[in-house]
Amino acid sequence: MKRIILIGYMGAGKTTLGKILARNLNLEFIDLDWYIENRYHQSVSQLFATRGEEGFRQVERNMLHEVAEFEDVVISAGGGTPCFFDNMEYMNTQGLTVYLKASAETLRTHLRMGKQKRPLIAQKNDEELDAFIRESLDKREEYYNQAHLIFDIGLLDNGGRIQEASDMLEKQIMASIDK
Ligand code: S3P
Repeated sequence: MKRIILIGYMGAGKTTLGKILARNLNLEFIDLDWYIENRYHQSVSQLFATRGEEGFRQVERNMLHEVAEFEDVVISAGGGTPCFFDNMEYMNTQGLTVYLKASAETLRTHLRMGKQKRPLIAQKNDEELDAFIRESLDKREEYYNQAHLIFDIGLLDNGGRIQEASDMLEKQIMASIDK
């Protein structure tokens, strides 16, 4: 039985790499945010608006406990999932956790395009977004760094292709599963 859990900041590529990885390893792919949206019939933004961040984190925790029971899956967690309750510890007991590590600069580039669906940053201008990423990445890394495996997605910034990155990631994952 394989259960791989991808964690990392918003915009690090958890969903993109997770889908490819799942396909290559013949596992099912589950994105925690999508799972939540399906179960609650509300978008993440709507859940933030109606329940506040605290309410969303409770929902997220409950749903994490559902998906982290599934077998033969690649799960992509939300950017904040590891940083609340005992979620990081829990994920570490449930599967192989992989931190997709990206620099603040890379995240900024990715998130400038993709901030609309993310309530924590949707209203921020470029300057505010920069400051928010730097500050929260610093705090969050304490949790992210507890992952079993840390995979630097820097390759993607240096003109590397997504396929190369996912091949490398797959090799590292297989090596640590075989250990
Ligand atoms: C969040 C990340 C989002 C989503 C929510 C909060 C965060 O997921 O769960 O908007 O706190 O970093 P992605 O990392 O998939 O964007």
